[in-house]
Amino acid sequence: MSFRIQPAAPARPNRCQLFGPASNTKLFAKMAASAADVINIDLEDSVAPTDKDMARANAIEAINTVDWGTKTVSVRINGLDTPYWYRDVVDLMEQAGERLDMIMIPKVGCAEDIYAVDALVTAIERAKGRSKPVAFEVIIESAAGIAHVEAIAASSPRLEAMSLGAADFAASMGMQTTGIGGTQENYYMIREGAKHWSDPWHWAQAAIVAACRTHGVLPVDGPFGDFSDDDGYIAQSKRSATLGMVGKWAIHPKQIALANEVFTPSEEAVTEAREILAAMETAKANGEGATVYKGRLVDIASIKQAEVIVAQAELIAAS
Ligand code: COA
Ligand code: MG
Repeated sequence: MSFRIQPAAPARPNRCQLFGPASNTKLFAKMAASAADVINIDLEDSVAPTDKDMARANAIEAINTVDWGTKTVSVRINGLDTPYWYRDVVDLMEQAGERLDMIMIPKVGCAEDIYAVDALVTAIERAKGRSKPVAFEVIIESAAGIAHVEAIAASSPRLEAMSLGAADFAASMGMQTTGIGGTQENYYMIREGAKHWSDPWHWAQAAIVAACRTHGVLPVDGPFGDFSDDDGYIAQSKRSATLGMVGKWAIHPKQIALANEVFTPSEEAVTEAREILAAMETAKANGEGATVYKGRLVDIASIKQAEVIVAQAELIAAS
């Protein structure tokens, strides 16, 4: 066991990140009034190339004028392989006020991508005398991104969150699917003649969680494209929560309540966690490291597991 203590991830709710294209100004007020913890105004793939300048100006205006309450406000810039990204950063940093909390960097392939954006952001912060450092979040959505995921998670003290972008990731990997997350028809095993579907996103999700937890970054599940499939969205969310992710994107407002429900620990889960902590207190008082709770073993590791659930519930209750 390493003597280094695992760093804590930022203590803010991140159950749902609601996206909307910056070219669609009528969405801003609705996004601000929603129950999402994080707002992502998009300059990237939901904005047509001919609308990039207009969208950038809209995003700045919205950040400066809309009442975002206590939400975390983030803007997704264009990728470093485009001609747009530097102007996104410069205009946002120079013209959007202190209400801009985060910049989301898509299609990150290596730690140096973050270094480049960090250098530009740091220079503008100093030049403009901004008092609040802008945070970063990134999307892993390429073969290179997942290959370098740990270095990316360690790349900058600005980094707060990381997500898997299933669609671009699938394309980069050469995966035979056009789905954005969720069950894939051809990813199954056969047992006794019956198909059992497995999760082709699982290994990448788990790699992201491990990289994030090593470096104190929030792991967040990305988009689920079929917004008419509530059950599919909930199933994907529950798998992600089980793996250690703290929230999920919404690409339509109907997904917000689903994410908030899954990523808020249930009353039963919190009660059980508190009971395990109490059982371990009793065990400790009796000089024991392990005891029995509801017919199963709980020990000192169970305290840490239970504390994760209680801490998440308390964080959300306090927000
Ligand atoms: N945020 C807030 N409100 C939204 C919204 C969003 N992202 N998307 C839709 N709404 C609103 C609509 O304006 C509409 O409001 P109304 O009842 O007051 O008229 C209501 O929710 C129902 O919308 P609906 O008609 O079902 O959807 P739509 O056809 O208007 O839009 C999408 C569908 C997918 C185009 C739209 O949801 C969208 O742009 N999503 C975000 C896409 C994105 O940002 N992608 C990048 C990340 S992957
Ligand atoms: Mg993408």
